[in-house]
Amino acid sequence: MKKKLVKGVTDYFKESFKTGPQHIFLSPGRINVIGEHVDYNDGFVLPAAINKYICFAVSESGTSQCTFIAKDLNETYSFDLNDDLKPTDIMWANYILGVLYQLKERTSNLKGINVVFSSTIPMGAGLSSSAALECGVGYVFNYMFDIGLSKEDIALIGQKSEHTFVGVNCGIMDQFASVFGKKNSVIKLDCNSLEYEYHKADFKEYSLLLLDSNVKHTHLTSGYNTRRQEVEQGLAILKEAYPGIKTFRDCNEEQVLALREKLGETIYKRCHFVVQEIQRVLDAVEALEASDFNKLGALMFATHEGLSKEYEVSCDEIDFLVDAVRQDENVLGSRMMGGGFGGCSINLVKKGSENSIIERIKAEYKAKFGITMKAYKIKISKGTSLYKR
Ligand code: GLA
Repeated sequence: MKKKLVKGVTDYFKESFKTGPQHIFLSPGRINVIGEHVDYNDGFVLPAAINKYICFAVSESGTSQCTFIAKDLNETYSFDLNDDLKPTDIMWANYILGVLYQLKERTSNLKGINVVFSSTIPMGAGLSSSAALECGVGYVFNYMFDIGLSKEDIALIGQKSEHTFVGVNCGIMDQFASVFGKKNSVIKLDCNSLEYEYHKADFKEYSLLLLDSNVKHTHLTSGYNTRRQEVEQGLAILKEAYPGIKTFRDCNEEQVLALREKLGETIYKRCHFVVQEIQRVLDAVEALEASDFNKLGALMFATHEGLSKEYEVSCDEIDFLVDAVRQDENVLGSRMMGGGFGGCSINLVKKGSENSIIERIKAEYKAKFGITMKAYKIKISKGTSLYKR
């Protein structure tokens, strides 16, 4: 699939620019085993890059003009590096422009490029196609013009692009996973210090299966930013009551419970989820290290419960997908993944049972919602990189 993607992009580049590309780059999407909506709450997360990518074919343009062709959309966006870069009404271009805006602030080494890109990361499915795009663009310019950015810089620039040019106040998880991904490893990331460690993604006789509700989310309208405001308010109240608290990392469940009335029911639920979810990630890493997959699966179900009932970022379709596997003896854990309001569930399932699970749930899902569910068997792969031909 990777080869096909690369070939498709390379051929399209040749057709469009009448010459072959100088370089090919791949920037992956990500999964997250556990640790949802805690990256912007100073928690821990456990993501990994996957074998679904945006592929970029790139050459210098010879001028200060940049041309990006989005092959899948059959759309082109061109701009001059000397332009005053501002958000446009072409959504996908904003991810790119937001990165370049920051690169221009850091260096005068930039030159124009011609790019064709295409993706195997489904959009709006919670697999971070936007982070792959932002980080891919940062990586491409850094590689081609020796800007001297670290991987962490590339991830942070990607995140800021989303804040400033797209308007989603996302955390750092997606960009970090896309850039720092490592084959067969999950990343335990401390979202407060950005310290990270790799853990072997060895699920033994189990595998990770994604079920895609095919309900598309967009974080701009989905309440993502509202959740951020709610937890900010909650944290302010917690800090006031307990001067020792600086972040959610310092809170325990009792403290949140004790302030239930003051917080009000909605904000209480949000804070309660966050404090529990931060702990669940630590427990999940222990379970993974001990190959205790029953435990890991139970933690995933508990996360879903919290996301659905307390953080309220799930939706009927995703709740259905999780409920549908709850009694299945081949499934140890399941939960909504990513920002929510649609997208995928991530499931820890017995190897070999994937197809029968997919067939069964696909039929049930279609009967209930009239929507065709998709499914992805994923592999954990390396982060954004140059593709060696
Ligand atoms: C989106 C955001 C991430 C993270 C997740 C929820 O994917 O981009 O930063 O907050 O939602 O865990």
